[in-house]
Amino acid sequence: MLTGATGQVGHALAETLGGHTLVMPGRDALDLSRPDRIASCVERIAPDLIINPAAYTAVDKAEAEPELARLINTEAVRALAQAAALHGIGLVHFSTDYVFDGTKEEAYRESDPTCPINVYGRTKRDGESAIIDSGCAFWILRTSWVYGRHGGNFMKTILRLAQERDALCVVNDQFGAPTSDEVIAQTLRQMLEAGKGRITEHMRASTGIYHLTCGGQTSWHAYACKLVDAMPSLGLVSRMSSRDVQGIASAAYPTAARRPANSRLHTDKLRHTFHLDLPHWAEALDQCLALMASSPSSH
Ligand SMILES: NC(=O)c1ccc[n+]([C@@H]2O[C@H](COP(=O)([O-])OP(=O)(O)OC[C@H]3O[C@@H](n4cnc5c(N)ncnc54)[C@H](OP(=O)(O)O)[C@@H]3O)[C@@H](O)[C@H]2O)c1
Repeated sequence: MLTGATGQVGHALAETLGGHTLVMPGRDALDLSRPDRIASCVERIAPDLIINPAAYTAVDKAEAEPELARLINTEAVRALAQAAALHGIGLVHFSTDYVFDGTKEEAYRESDPTCPINVYGRTKRDGESAIIDSGCAFWILRTSWVYGRHGGNFMKTILRLAQERDALCVVNDQFGAPTSDEVIAQTLRQMLEAGKGRITEHMRASTGIYHLTCGGQTSWHAYACKLVDAMPSLGLVSRMSSRDVQGIASAAYPTAARRPANSRLHTDKLRHTFHLDLPHWAEALDQCLALMASSPSSH
């Protein structure tokens, strides 16, 4: 059972896990803002595994809609986890770098205490806690700065703005690793395959939180510069070069939700537990851009 198949990660998972029988209830069949309806939906579908990339992801809007964000990111997750525990199946859930406050100097490890600084981060952290409390077999995959060919994201916004404007200001004091929906989906595919068909036992043996991001780190500003420079090879006409992308401090770009300055997540645990590699963010971005260039309808 795959939720959120219309979202970035959900869409990539639907494509990547196509070899499995996927039941993908959309918002009409399973509205996660109605957690009371989740148990009966899971019972009807009777899945072998629940994968939940669906979430309330509008970080700034969440400040004004904390109750809706809580229902979807905490209470719906609690209901999914309780259903998974009841039926003895696993739950794969996605979480975020925003469970941290970003004040640590180094990359965050799974064992670091959480301390969210906005509503979205708090509701996601509480969703994690609900899963742990439920007793189900789970993988919580914390990722960061997600982009891909489908859906809205920073990459697409920059590519559009560079065609419309002569200059851009982008924050240069937040650091993280852009991670493509494709890398997330391929990594989960490999993690599932390692179970050799005994997925619940496999998840029970490896239950836990894992950080799943691309390697390396960058700032939003350097990321935007790389995107602008890549535009000619994508066949896109840009009105600016990376010299026209000015770096600014977060304080000069106030948003409703505060964001952590350090979003870097250590991925050793995932790589060592499942014996897999994660590409550098720039390499994964190049691959995504090459795919976009070969299918222009996706940008
Ligand atoms: N985007 C990022 O930069 C980022 C960073 C770190 C972690 N994450 C986490 O990664 C996961 C995937 O993120 P994403 O970027 O793929 O998200 P996304 O593109 O915003 O997609 C969200 C999905 O959730 C569904 N959804 C929202 N509210 C719903 C509701 N009430 N009932 C049913 N479905 C609902 C949406 O359905 P509709 O199409 O019907 O709206 C959509 O399919 C999330 O857990 C997110 O918290 C994301």
